[in-house]
Amino acid sequence: MILVTGGAGFIGSNFVLDWLATGDEPVVNLDLLTYAGNPANLASLKDDSRHTFVHGDIANADLLDKLLAQHQPRAVIHFAAESHVDRSIHGPEAFVQTNVVGSLRLLEAVRKYWKGMNAEAAAAFRFLHVSTDEVYGSLEKDAPAFSETHPYEPNSPYSASKAASDHLVRAYHHTYGLPTLTTNCSNNYGPYHFPEKLIPLCIHNALTGKPLPIYGDGQQIRDWLYVSDHCSAIRRVLEAGTVGQTYNVGGWNEKANLDVVRTLCTALDELQPRADGQSYAQQITFVADRPGHDRRYAIDASKLERELGWRPAETFETGIAKTVRWYLQHQAWVDNVTSGAYRDWIGQHYGD
Ligand code: NAD
Ligand code: TYD
Repeated sequence: MILVTGGAGFIGSNFVLDWLATGDEPVVNLDLLTYAGNPANLASLKDDSRHTFVHGDIANADLLDKLLAQHQPRAVIHFAAESHVDRSIHGPEAFVQTNVVGSLRLLEAVRKYWKGMNAEAAAAFRFLHVSTDEVYGSLEKDAPAFSETHPYEPNSPYSASKAASDHLVRAYHHTYGLPTLTTNCSNNYGPYHFPEKLIPLCIHNALTGKPLPIYGDGQQIRDWLYVSDHCSAIRRVLEAGTVGQTYNVGGWNEKANLDVVRTLCTALDELQPRADGQSYAQQITFVADRPGHDRRYAIDASKLERELGWRPAETFETGIAKTVRWYLQHQAWVDNVTSGAYRDWIGQHYGD
């Protein structure tokens, strides 16, 4: 079986759902259920004995020792993190606690567990660390896309904390020989994306008649990757990646934020037109820029294609169409998240 951390969040829950849809290997899912973790994402697995959910913190060393001893995973896929740049600007400490200290505790527990495995199991074991392209910093307009050897130049507390965790993973491979893999991925979008991030926020605000906030001039560029493509990339790296290596994962879709939001508006205009017949683009509103806002990210994912034969299946157009349709069909999920009802449920369920 595999152990996934952060499997109730956006990418982690998509990964767990895809994993169990494409195979039968059981998953233990360790998640603290912070504001970003939502058990409703995993509702379809309620009666699925292949999925074991554990409510807990990756920084809890005793819990990690117990879980590893009990379940004996052949791999750990590490998604758990504080992930929102804007929140990291307001409160960096939680990012250091989970992304740095939590990752260190996880690595340490896994190292001890791995050391105790028999030689064959230890050789086959993998620790896959899920990271971000934001660790590489910001690119000039015409600079080549980030390759795996691009220098680390993180600019936000979020990316600095992710960079620190990447360095720890690297060190655990070089110092202790732990069989690690690292993936650095571009901006994901798709189902179960928490509506604080650009794409789900704008879909939600559009449908509820609120402004669509564009930071600064809206010309910041991101590379967009449909989340199920990210999941297939992780499965491929886990299966065939070379230990100690890093793989960049991207969608070959560089877009300016304003163009992303305009594309969303066009899709919504077609699928659920405004009552007054006007375009949702009327709701676009320019607001103050994010402090230290990175201008451009772009991923060169050619190593993953060349060495492991992976390419994204979705274009930006097909991925956005699927995403908008998913949000329109899952308004109850959005209402549950935005009303805070799921937080109440977690409080009732876990007592604290
Ligand atoms: P998310 O914020 O949606 O989910 C994070 C999950 O981790 C939540 O379920 C949360 O409850 C859990 N968690 C947080 N702290 C924890 C702790 N101390 N112990 C256990 N669980 C904890 O994040 P996401 O967007 O799904 O991102 C997943 C991973 O992918 C992160 O490591 C992130 O840095 C990375 N990443 C994300 C993107 C993106 O576009 N979203 C892009 C590149 C890389
Ligand atoms: P976000 O989804 O927060 O992801 P990240 O900061 O990890 O790239 O933001 C994506 C881009 O959209 C980023 O350039 C900031 C911008 N943005 C806005 O313009 N308005 C918003 O309301 C949000 C949340 C983001």
